[in-house]
Amino acid sequence: MVLIDLANRSLILIIGVAIVVVAAGIYYVSTSSGPIGESVTPSEIVTSQKSIKGEELYADYCTGCHGAKRVGGVGPALSASNTNRGVIEKGNLDEGMPAFKGELSQEEIDSIIDYLNS
Ligand code: HEC
Repeated sequence: MVLIDLANRSLILIIGVAIVVVAAGIYYVSTSSGPIGESVTPSEIVTSQKSIKGEELYADYCTGCHGAKRVGGVGPALSASNTNRGVIEKGNLDEGMPAFKGELSQEEIDSIIDYLNS
């Protein structure tokens, strides 16, 4: 009887250890940021790089008139509600807003808009 008990106990121990190892493995695979992991997807990385680039472009081209923190200056404060692609591309020369179509690429204007919407 004592021998069988001992055998049963070590079997339970082995199964227990196996379950912990498998669970740890699943946890590792599901949290690693490789192609299998779900924590960081490539599109999220692209989006955040885009708005970082937009922030830099804003600092280079827009800060002078719209303020360092988009709070406005010569031009109005900018936010998601008044970010107008047409105005950025064509400008509003009579009112002092330059046209950026020739100066900035579509992608650059996209990333500035992403930044202003963030
Ligand atoms: C030389 C100064 C100047 C620069 C540089 C400038 N803006 Fe403007 N911007 C203005 C002025 C002035 C207005 C207001 C025009 C008006 O009254 O219609 C304006 C208006 C705008 C508007 C429309 C806001 C609204 O409420 O309708 C947007 C959007 C805008 N600017 C975006 C930008 C972006 C993005 C940049 C940088 C790529 C930029 N501006 C650079 C002066 C500037």
